[in-house]
Amino acid sequence: MLMPTLFLLLTTSFAVTAGQTELSGCRVDIDTDWTVRGSCNYTKADVSRVNDINCTWYRQHNQGSVTLVTEGSVTSQQKTEGNETDGYSGSCSFSVTDSPSQTGNHTFYIDFVPVPERMIAGQIEIMEPGKPETNCLEGTVFPEGQDRSCDCTNSKSQPGSPPPTVGWRGSAPGQPLLFRDIPRHPIESRWFCEMTWGPEGNSIVKTTNISTVIVCEYSK
Ligand SMILES: *[C@@H]1O[C@H](CO)[C@@H](O)[C@H](O)[C@H]1NC(C)=O
Ligand SMILES: *[C@@H]1O[C@H](CO)[C@@H](O)[C@H](O)[C@H]1NC(C)=O
Ligand SMILES: *[C@@H]1O[C@H](CO)[C@@H](O)[C@H](O)[C@H]1NC(C)=O
Ligand SMILES: *[C@@H]1O[C@H](CO)[C@@H](O)[C@H](O)[C@H]1NC(C)=O
Ligand SMILES: *[C@@H]1O[C@H](CO)[C@@H](O)[C@H](O)[C@H]1NC(C)=O
Repeated sequence: MLMPTLFLLLTTSFAVTAGQTELSGCRVDIDTDWTVRGSCNYTKADVSRVNDINCTWYRQHNQGSVTLVTEGSVTSQQKTEGNETDGYSGSCSFSVTDSPSQTGNHTFYIDFVPVPERMIAGQIEIMEPGKPETNCLEGTVFPEGQDRSCDCTNSKSQPGSPPPTVGWRGSAPGQPLLFRDIPRHPIESRWFCEMTWGPEGNSIVKTTNISTVIVCEYSK
């Protein structure tokens, strides 16, 4: 009963020490919608059936414990033909929306069968952004009759990763506040430069509010 097991182990380690199976181009990214996607390409996977290929993904927050992400899907398997170094090539990928939201580094690992060692596939760093910024300060003076705009952007010193959604409250994200043909009388109002950051259902909002921005200066 022991012999077949031993034989299989030896076959597997032979294939690996022969350096045939190669994992390449591994990457892990986080989208602005906090979906995390990872993938690795493999070539010459030395297995008898493509179903023997197994990719399992793990993650680790900073130096914390390593936890299972998912058994990733194996896509686009192809058997390379016409070569004695035949094997399977394709890619393993995963996509998760229950993203890590703790700030710091999240390292993603892949266990790829038939490669025996766990490998690092990529790292993402979650960084909380600073307060949003505007180029229009409290009490800014604009000349009468002109057009001006005020931007609302993420913090230059702490932009955040993944990037937050930033914009003026009531306007589409990224759109400036436009003031056309600035009137003689002061425009007295309050505007809110607002930023939302975090995974859905667990996001934070930061606001920089400015009031009485536009005070016109009479043109001569
Ligand atoms: C991985 O495979 C995909 C699909 O075949 C290909 O588009 C991509 O360029 C490959 N990446 C690397 C780094 O080889
Ligand atoms: C893939 O590998 C994982 C971890 O070793 C294991 O738990 C799982 O059962 C394997 N899946 C298949 C289909 O072999
Ligand atoms: C077989 O594969 C090896 C390694 O990838 C390569 O060097 C060789 O040229 C290939 N032979 C043929 C006939 O395609
Ligand atoms: C995350 O890792 C990068 C390098 O990989 C390092 O520069 C940075 O300090 C780390 N951040 C934290 C919060 O540990
Ligand atoms: C906006 O800023 C003004 C002046 O700094 C402050 O008095 C007011 O409470 C703020 N309003 C909100 C909603 O944050």
